[in-house]
Amino acid sequence: MDEANLWTAFEAAAATGGALCSRGGDAQSWPAEEWSAAGVSIDTRSLKPGDIFVALRDARDGHEFLKNAFDAGASAALVARAPEDAPEGAPLLVVGDTLQGLRDLALAARLRNFGKRIGVTGSAGKTSTKEILRAVLRANGGVHAADKSFNNHWGVPLSLARLPMHADYGVFEIGMNHAGEITPLSALVRPHAAIVTTVAEAHLEFFDSVEGIAEAKAEIFTGLAPGGVAVLPIDNEYYPLLKKRAEEAGAASFVTFGESDGAVFRLHEYAPDGAGARLAVSIRGKRRDIAVGVPGKHQALNMLAALAAAEAVGADLEKCIDALAGLEPAQGRGERATIRVGDGEATLIDESYNANPASMAAAIALLAAAPVKGDGRRLAVLGEMLELGPDAPALHAALAQSLLAAKVDRVYAAGDLMRHLWDRLPPEMQGVWAGSAVGLIGAVEDAVGPGDVVMVKGSNASKVSAVAKALKSRSTTE
Ligand SMILES: Nc1ncnc2c1ncn2[C@@H]1O[C@H](COP(=O)(O)OP(=O)(O)O)[C@@H](O)[C@H]1O
Ligand SMILES: [Mg+2]
Repeated sequence: MDEANLWTAFEAAAATGGALCSRGGDAQSWPAEEWSAAGVSIDTRSLKPGDIFVALRDARDGHEFLKNAFDAGASAALVARAPEDAPEGAPLLVVGDTLQGLRDLALAARLRNFGKRIGVTGSAGKTSTKEILRAVLRANGGVHAADKSFNNHWGVPLSLARLPMHADYGVFEIGMNHAGEITPLSALVRPHAAIVTTVAEAHLEFFDSVEGIAEAKAEIFTGLAPGGVAVLPIDNEYYPLLKKRAEEAGAASFVTFGESDGAVFRLHEYAPDGAGARLAVSIRGKRRDIAVGVPGKHQALNMLAALAAAEAVGADLEKCIDALAGLEPAQGRGERATIRVGDGEATLIDESYNANPASMAAAIALLAAAPVKGDGRRLAVLGEMLELGPDAPALHAALAQSLLAAKVDRVYAAGDLMRHLWDRLPPEMQGVWAGSAVGLIGAVEDAVGPGDVVMVKGSNASKVSAVAKALKSRSTTE
């Protein structure tokens, strides 16, 4: 949603308690007070003309980029000081701390909006579920959701600060690396419905146990608005714990999704169908079949979570279900492309956006379910799963089981951790191992033949997306 006047100078000043000023300028005019911002940006590289630029101190100090921001068309800048090189006359809003200023804008944006908000957390599937919610809620009204993951201490306030006053729905992804991080973010968002997609081994570096992760995800419920609804993954080992924490946090009601008996939004059967899938589901015991545009059983479960949350905030369920047919996979998250190989074609499943054991298992299942053509084979191109802590080698080795069960024909693997998997594979499944993902490109390009399905997956930092990109450069359709 766009709104021409997302923030006027006075609204932004009132929200943050900051001072409107500018360096130099003409005392007879008041440029410092006469701006309004169409958006909020913290990065001059993606800043759009009309945005207010928030100079955060992160890896670099945003104050060093003020000139770039105004060159790029910033309407104003939220700063903690007015640097010497701030362009003459450029409108500034000066606060004590710019991250707090961003949070203050976020809070004010929330307070003036009368729509419904949904918070999404979980070890995997946050962004996917956010995108599903965007699509299903759009069938019901105006939706605001961030274009990117934006789920951390600055991403959540940034996304909320961009919430248009008249949006009917806001969807917020909330992530964490450490215990305690979700609590303040959820308190800022105050969701009317909060989803935990799943709890699994991710970021074990910073946790002693998966239970610790479950506890941290459950923090999302502490921020629920009065009357708020908790949307819970009934199949998960930590479902009882999540439910207990939601109860303690005062959730007014619960809705479950999953494959288990008793799930309110239940998946009975999943079948891939063309580029999408067909689902047999039951909603409050009522069976029905639905066609969806995105494949993957894990995505089907994300869809049920999204439906549960959308209904909880008052959206029309039928409109939401209809919208699922029009979904398209996002880049690097199951996106499919047809690639030209010799005089034939192969299918690329690009899962290179990120990986942990749960999402890796989901992607391997996706590969297993993808139909090959003629003599085609199933190839897995795997980058490392990062941030798994001391269990990382074992978690990589354990993938051998899933790959065998999925009847994957060949595995191409990169990185030292993937060596633990590699050494477990029977020789006929071993394609190539390389120290880094770029080292696989040539071998994978040579290996892909007509009718094959190639699935590329790994943590973002494994750079395995480079392999997907190389293959896509020969795509016929995207
Ligand atoms: N519910 C789920 N369970 C397991 N894996 C999932 C689930 N949803 C998505 N995934 C996989 O996890 C990866 C990351 O998905 P994404 O939606 O970006 O999650 P997040 O935002 O939580 O990192 C993708 O490869 C996707 O296919
Ligand atoms: Mg994400």
